[in-house]
Amino acid sequence: MKITNNYTFHGELSVPGDKSISHRGIMFGAVSDGLTEITNFLQGADCLSTISCFQKLGISIENTGSSVLIHGKGLHGLTAPHKILDVGNSGTTTRLISGILAGQSFETTLDGDNSIRKRPMKRIFTPLSQMGADFQCWDKNPFPDRWEPSDSGCAPFTVKGGTLKGIHYHSPVASAQVKSAILLAGLYAESTTSVTEPVLSRNHTELMLAAFGAQIKSSDTTVSIEPEPVLTGQKIQIPGDISSAAYFIALGLITPHSEILIQNVGVNPTRNGILTAALSMGGTIELLNKRTISGEPVADILVKSSHLHGAEIGGNLIPALIDEIPIIAVMAAFADGKTIIQDAQELKVKESDRIAAVTENLKAMGCSIIPTEDGMIIEGGRPLHSAHIHTFQDHRIAMAFTIAGLNASGETTLDDENCTIISYPSFYEDILCLAK
Ligand code: S3P
Repeated sequence: MKITNNYTFHGELSVPGDKSISHRGIMFGAVSDGLTEITNFLQGADCLSTISCFQKLGISIENTGSSVLIHGKGLHGLTAPHKILDVGNSGTTTRLISGILAGQSFETTLDGDNSIRKRPMKRIFTPLSQMGADFQCWDKNPFPDRWEPSDSGCAPFTVKGGTLKGIHYHSPVASAQVKSAILLAGLYAESTTSVTEPVLSRNHTELMLAAFGAQIKSSDTTVSIEPEPVLTGQKIQIPGDISSAAYFIALGLITPHSEILIQNVGVNPTRNGILTAALSMGGTIELLNKRTISGEPVADILVKSSHLHGAEIGGNLIPALIDEIPIIAVMAAFADGKTIIQDAQELKVKESDRIAAVTENLKAMGCSIIPTEDGMIIEGGRPLHSAHIHTFQDHRIAMAFTIAGLNASGETTLDDENCTIISYPSFYEDILCLAK
């Protein structure tokens, strides 16, 4: 793939369905009674991993492309899989499904790709073990193909469910995956389960579980759930993913003479930090046609070329834009002055170490950037030049640096653009539709 800066970008697009909400629709539908029907489901590789895991757990799921039908079997309807569950590249699948598996009376083994095998799982093992589940990690020796017990704290691992007790867990990280795993295990516990986070993370689990019939209450950064509800299948319309819209927000803002309308985007306040960050950098952004769809706030987002300046991004805002930091860093490279991104140490344990990946690639394009323990400092405003981008097989790095390449001199190349199938299979087609 060769990327050049010969274009302006104009027109309207709808980005694919939200990844976090798509995963949850499959999972909650699977453990509910009756039919769940999802429209605008994200057909990305991560969400397809979730479908395939629940099929192996005995759930019938029909994916027609335009809709997904889940024939739920209720809270206690899953059956032991005959095979290892392959979670692919998906941290959300791994951590959320572990919460459900913690409440099952059978053992399940999960494994994934090389990235998933490096991601920290002790953050879910600790609370789920306190509730009564058992976890065993494995070292996989290729010659001979034998697995040895390990205390890596990473996949592959086996989860043995059991009788669970309710806990009140103070999570050391603001992580919706950790929070959701505990709440899902809480469905199977003997008493109330609650989680307190240091800062509120995305709340899609709370909103959607309540719609399915769970008794769930949130107050500030604490959420609690009652055990053994009757969950009932739902019709869910999934909004466009703001994490995918973020690339087009940045493209419209940094490319001269451009204007893009991104329709039907989820703007849940626990997710919309990209809008706050872009506005604080001087971006011209308007939210139009605000509405609520399946319990989630939705709007159309209009962006126009803007003269951006640096900003400080940190604190409570970070969980609401954690996945957007690579593209915010690209925006900062095109903004005048200094941008400081801090309190974002979680970036190191995403699909790649995103502090290292962003630093290496922005430096290669001629940007002045200093990595820090919890973020980065970018001195923006110098024109960027082309480079060969190392994506680390991380979809968000590939997409962020495609946007950078579209505004850099020369011909930028990517070592692997295929990883965009994780969250945005039609990313390159959608860019081409807007290019003039
Ligand atoms: C997600 C939560 C976030 C986010 C990830 C999706 C979710 O991870 O980075 O892409 O769907 O719950 P953490 O919970 O680890 O912060």
